[in-house]
Order: sequence, then structure tokens, then C-alpha cells
Amino acid sequence: MNLLVLLFPPVVHLNATFTRVSNNATVIPFNANIPDCGNQPKTDNNCPYKDIENKKKEKKITRKTPEHLLNYDRCYQLNDEVEYRIYWSVSLPDTIMMAISIPATNESEKWVAVGFGSIFPGMNTSDIVLGYITPTGTQCVRSMTAVNFVGAPIDTDTVALQNTAVSYINGWLTVEFSRKLSDGHNPIPLNPPVMPGYSVIWATGDNVLTQCSGKPKYHSHRGYRVINVMYPDTVFDHSRLCTN
Ligand code: HEM
Repeated sequence: MNLLVLLFPPVVHLNATFTRVSNNATVIPFNANIPDCGNQPKTDNNCPYKDIENKKKEKKITRKTPEHLLNYDRCYQLNDEVEYRIYWSVSLPDTIMMAISIPATNESEKWVAVGFGSIFPGMNTSDIVLGYITPTGTQCVRSMTAVNFVGAPIDTDTVALQNTAVSYINGWLTVEFSRKLSDGHNPIPLNPPVMPGYSVIWATGDNVLTQCSGKPKYHSHRGYRVINVMYPDTVFDHSRLCTN
């Protein structure tokens, strides 16, 4: 047993401890509701609660939510450090309209992405949507997938994206799309069991791309959440609701 522990030490993630059993093992987080650390320093066992509390006390610039995003039925802030927001509406039986949004200082500064159904920890199998605006103003929304545990995703047509748009309004960089719930490697269930739930990963990074192809720069921040598209309050704390 001691030898096993030496060979396969527990992997500490967020505030949960997982044990890697094999490369194909499904890892179940013990608490679906744990906020993540983003790139915050994991200085103590209270991470991320302490940092989030401190951040909330800091005076943030309040940016007005772009008017058209108020038409979405749901909005939750997945991460407080980079104010990563996810908006969505479900159109039954099989379509989801979604927006992912972060503050940016100019329209082509960053890329923003969401990945559906990763086998966390890891990016692999995730159906990713990654969007940005090039320095010449071209809007790029790319359907991608992560074939490896970690590393840059590749373009794919596994998930067909419709109604794609990227906007930069009131300081918010927003990527919008709709997709079939049933598409992709990891179809989005309407009401997954709370445990183990359905995972989404999210990320943002500096944009260096001048066209809608090529390898995006490594993320500055990334994380994951368990989500329930029909009954989000079963997995999200009320404090995650978008407030402005
Ligand atoms: C742009 C190219 C990308 C590269 C080169 C890349 C590379 C990596 C690497 C090396 C790691 C492991 C080290 C670390 O945790 O930082 C990682 C982890 C991660 N990446 Fe990416 N990534 C890319 C894009 C993305 C995208 C688009 C998403 C989300 C949609 C994402 C989500 C994640 C998540 C959630 C983790 C944490 C997994 C864990 O902790 O085990 N990545 N990535």
C-alpha cells in the first residue's frame, strides 16, 4: 500500500483530492459545488474561499451588461477572478443558445472558450467552442475538440455551431453560438444527476491569432464546473448568479 502511494501520489485539484487510478478512469469530484481556483495561488487549504472573499472586497470596475445578453434565460459567473460568465437558453427539444463573456481591454486582446463534457481533470474528449476577434476585426468562433489530456485543442466538425457571433460591447468580449444538445462526443443532458453531474471546462487566454485558424496561445486562466442546463440551482450557489 505504501509503495502504491509513493508511485501514484494523490493529485490535489482545486480543493478536492483525486487519485489517478489509470489514464481511463472516470474521476468523480466529491463536491460538485466547489468554486475553483483559476490561476490564484493555492497558498493555503482555504483556497479558493479566502481569495474570493478578498477579491469581492476589492472595488471592481462595473461594466454594463450588453443589452442583448439580457435575453438569455440564465446567467452564472463561473469564475470571479476573470469574471467569466456563461449565459444560456434552452429551446426544447434539442437546441441550446449560449454566450460566454469576459471583460477585456480591447476587442482582440483575448480568446474565450468553453468545453462540454470533459473527463476532468483533463481537457480530453471535451467538445470545445473557442472564439475571438482578430486585430483586423474578423470574428472567429471555432468548433474544436481536445484529443489529449492537456494541450491545444484541434478544429473539428463533430459539433455543428449555428448563429455564431463575437462582440465587444461595454468592455465585455462575448462569444455566442447555438448547438444541438445531442451533438458531439459528450451530448449535453437536460437534467443530469447532481453527482457526478455534467462537467464543462472554461478557459481564456491572450489572443495572438490573426485568422480563424492556428494554435491559440496557452490559457492564462482555466477551470471547470458541474452544470445542469435545466435546473442550474441544483448545482450552482445563488451567489454565482450574474448581478449586473
Ligand atoms: C489554447 C491551447 C491550449 C493549450 C496549449 C492548453 C494546454 C494545457 C495544459 C498544458 C494543461 C495542464 C497544465 C495546466 O493545468 O495549466 C491544461 C489544463 C487545462 N486546460 Fe488547457 N490548453 C489549451 C486550451 C484549453 C481550452 C480551450 C480549454 C477550455 C475550453 C482548456 C481547459 C483546460 C482545463 C480545465 C485544464 C485543467 C485540467 C487539469 O487541471 O487537469 N484548455 N491545458
